[in-house]
Amino acid sequence: MTDNITTQRNAIRQQIRTARQSLSSEKQQQASAILLKSLKNHPSLLKSKRVSVTLAHDGEIDLTLLIHWCWQQNKQVFLPVVHPNETGRLLFVVYQHNTTMVKNRYGINEPQLIKSETDPTQFINTCPVSELDILFTPLVAFDHQGNRIGMGGGYYDRLLAPWFLNKTGPYPIGLAHDCQLVNALPIQNWDVPLPEIITPSKHFHF
Ligand SMILES: Nc1ncnc2c1ncn2[C@@H]1O[C@H](COP(=O)(O)OP(=O)(O)OP(=O)(O)O)[C@@H](O)[C@H]1O
Ligand SMILES: [Mg+2]
Repeated sequence: MTDNITTQRNAIRQQIRTARQSLSSEKQQQASAILLKSLKNHPSLLKSKRVSVTLAHDGEIDLTLLIHWCWQQNKQVFLPVVHPNETGRLLFVVYQHNTTMVKNRYGINEPQLIKSETDPTQFINTCPVSELDILFTPLVAFDHQGNRIGMGGGYYDRLLAPWFLNKTGPYPIGLAHDCQLVNALPIQNWDVPLPEIITPSKHFHF
């Protein structure tokens, strides 16, 4: 049986995904350019060396301009990849101009993991989460308290649990379109709220 709160969360997910999928490509391009403009002045980003981003799908805000700017600034860029052996865990893989991309189980492009020759359970092109400075966090919907819900995998809630408890690990910043803001989200006890969310028109601090 699906409980009431899960039903509500799924309805919000569906509604917001439809809204962002409906944005025109012109609106999408504008959104990316405006977002980069405000991020270029972000103090934590300016002093960061290792930044995790995501490639847009499902109508998400496109971070290609941000990625190119980070490369120009000699920041190392990482993309999350679902861990092939450990359920619920993400790996952070180096992303460069020439990185070999492969399609994952959802048909989404992700960097190819390179296994260590000495220990095949390890991957040489990844970075431990604790060594990332900024974690640009994807989300489907957020509210005025900084609560977020994602695609429903719990990957970011697991990842951000240490940050929530004792502020260790990379600093999370949510990036979203303005249409992803809702009044109040029904929250579960494992959900980790974000300290900051940036949209094209607003910079939220919670
Ligand atoms: N810290 C955690 N440890 C173990 N399981 C967790 C943790 N956080 C979330 N989960 C599990 O993940 C599942 C999905 O959670 P939720 O619906 O909040 O995902 P989400 O916030 O949409 O996804 P994401 O965090 O990937 O964006 C839930 O069944 C929940 O029990
Ligand atoms: Mg959650």
